[in-house]
Amino acid sequence: DKLTDRLTITQPDDWHLHVRTGSILQTVIAHTAKQFGRAIIMPNLKPPVTTVPQALAYRDEILTALPENSSFNPLMTLYLTGNTRAEDVKKVAASEHIHAFKLYPAGATTNSDAGVANIEAVYPIFAAMEKHVVPLLIHGEVTNPEYDIFDREKIFIDTQLSRITREFPGLRIVVEHLTTQDAVQFVESANDNVGATITPQHLLYNRNAILAGGIRPHFYCLPILKREQHRLALLKAATGGNRKFFLGTDSAPHLTHLKENACGCAGCYSAHAALELYAEAFEQADALDKLEGFASFHGADFYGLPRNTQSITLAKQAWAVPNHYGDTNNTITPLKAGEIVHWQQIS
Ligand code: NCD
Ligand code: DOR
Ligand code: ZN
Ligand code: ZN
Repeated sequence: DKLTDRLTITQPDDWHLHVRTGSILQTVIAHTAKQFGRAIIMPNLKPPVTTVPQALAYRDEILTALPENSSFNPLMTLYLTGNTRAEDVKKVAASEHIHAFKLYPAGATTNSDAGVANIEAVYPIFAAMEKHVVPLLIHGEVTNPEYDIFDREKIFIDTQLSRITREFPGLRIVVEHLTTQDAVQFVESANDNVGATITPQHLLYNRNAILAGGIRPHFYCLPILKREQHRLALLKAATGGNRKFFLGTDSAPHLTHLKENACGCAGCYSAHAALELYAEAFEQADALDKLEGFASFHGADFYGLPRNTQSITLAKQAWAVPNHYGDTNNTITPLKAGEIVHWQQIS
């Protein structure tokens, strides 16, 4: 059936993306800019992006690294720390290019040492963000080492997030990279100021991908993949047409040797085939008709930005993902390296 082997949708945006800095930026931004009109750029560089001038300089670096004639628009964020001031919130609210603050509980993930150790101490900043309508993006995991890694998202929701949403009902919150049924239920029952992103790896894989039949570091990301029951809940949420859920790849490149390591880094690289990977997941759920809302409408609407006007087309056309991207001394191993992907962007 010819109608089912082509899929044309409004150009999507990636509402959660890591592009890093320096030599790998050019490789990874080209992948994203080929598919997406815009992306929310994570600020967890070393050192983190904490001020407006730093974010604008990082934005310029990204624009310079783009392929010629690209109209891709990087939407910048600031890293929230214990030193963030209400004054910074006002500057972000006034900035055309900076769209949110990102909250990393200290120690939660890659380069989160500068994160917030005492979340209650930044409540006055949440109040300023609520007042000035600046969204708060949250990596929702507790970091106390006594908690089991598979429980950290749920415990964060129960002990921190539920209180934040109760005390700041007008605060726009994106619960980033949902990984559990509990998180889906929390977002569904929260008010309309609470939205969430879902990654391709959490829609396609459960924790067996990391641990069964050998340890596979390229499936290791944070929050870690969970049981099948959680994957199914995420797939149902993403494909259900609910405007609270939108696309955020969390594509997070690390050099191959730093993942294939006795202490491997957290992060899956998916920008090379982001939309194709989502299409596979949506097709699995027999819900390709819901991909456009999830990928191209819900996020823009949540952020109060115009929807894109161009479109892109995927074809049901198998291709083999390369084993590596990047130059020989600086390789990145992508999700599904050496495997077949069944959709391909053709325009
Ligand atoms: C307020 C502002 O800019 O929104 N000032 C401030 O937060 N220091 C003034 C106001 O209440 O509108
Ligand atoms: O797996 C992850 N990698 N999770 C994060 O939250 C951060 C990211 C990174 O920056 O590498
Ligand atoms: Zn995160
Ligand atoms: Zn991330």
